[in-house]
Amino acid sequence: MRILGIETSCDETAVAVVEDGHKVLSNVIASQINIHKKTGGVVPEVAAREHILKIIPVIEQTLKEANTGWNNIDAIAGVPGPGLISALITGSLTASTLALIKKKPLIPVNHILGHIYGNWCNRNEDFKFPILVLTVSGGHNDLILMKDHGSFELLGQSHDDSAGEAFDKVAKLLGLEYPGGPAIQKVAKNGDPESFLLPKAKLDSPYDFSFSGLKTAVLYEVQAHAGKDFNPTDLSKEFVANMSATFQKTVTETLVANLLKAYDTYRPKEIHLAGGVSANLFLRKYTQETFKPYKVPIKYPKSIEFCTDNGAMIASCGYFMYLKNKERYKKIRNLIPSANFTF
Ligand code: KG4
Ligand code: ZN
Repeated sequence: MRILGIETSCDETAVAVVEDGHKVLSNVIASQINIHKKTGGVVPEVAAREHILKIIPVIEQTLKEANTGWNNIDAIAGVPGPGLISALITGSLTASTLALIKKKPLIPVNHILGHIYGNWCNRNEDFKFPILVLTVSGGHNDLILMKDHGSFELLGQSHDDSAGEAFDKVAKLLGLEYPGGPAIQKVAKNGDPESFLLPKAKLDSPYDFSFSGLKTAVLYEVQAHAGKDFNPTDLSKEFVANMSATFQKTVTETLVANLLKAYDTYRPKEIHLAGGVSANLFLRKYTQETFKPYKVPIKYPKSIEFCTDNGAMIASCGYFMYLKNKERYKKIRNLIPSANFTF
């Protein structure tokens, strides 16, 4: 079964064709990163305008690269949310209209659950449930127990910023470019991760997260180093590298500490990392080392393109949702965009 997946929840216009939930036939991503670099972050109206400009050419390119026509597409999956409402509208409306015109089933996919399926993309192997998933991006930071396809229990989430958002904001403070995750990872290689003592939030719920205090602590350290009215571009290379390395290590230890607590309680058969932050090499290595004694498989998406926003994860998730309840999806006519769409 071939599904066309459409993703426009933030700053990527992304469309893919995926066969049977794992075989990615094409995955086209029109990234807006170069546009948002100028403002150091995503401006929703600018993102929305770009989606409108790109969505039709990206769909055409995706079908071409998959060497497929509409007759060979069996269903359309799109994202009603969560995400930026002005961005979600384009993908939702396009998916709904195409489903109507081409007479295909329409599958709503929650963006966060979509990220989980980045691990299924181009990976046709046996997955053993339950799976403990840490899915962390710019817009969300969740710890989820996946008992089966379509059966997800939210164990914990961030009370404020996601780790990805913290990467982006700290990078801006340090004069590094957007998106902050890859920029911090790069300069952290030359830094000492023990340079500063940064805080880890203590919360009542064992699996929840909070990163806004950490971000403020970085601001105070930068001000102590360079003065209250500092200019990020004046910070020394050494300071930026040391702060990046310490920040990356602190975020990673915080994320993996909750993963470990949840592992102890739920004893899942696999642990998955997903979302934009799962591209982080330090996080991947630290997770593998932490869980080595437990001999539990650690998986993260096979390629970076399946970590950050993409259409393939949406098509893959759509496939498994559709198999669970075909009759339900045959009746859906519209995707109603919602910034806080829950699962
Ligand atoms: O999944 P995604 O493309 O968009 C959202 O759903 O938000 O994730 C983007 C986020 C950004 O915050 C970016 O800084 C972060 O993922 N990210 C990384 C890395 N690559 C992307 N964070 C840490 N290390 C990376 N290598
Ligand atoms: Zn995302």
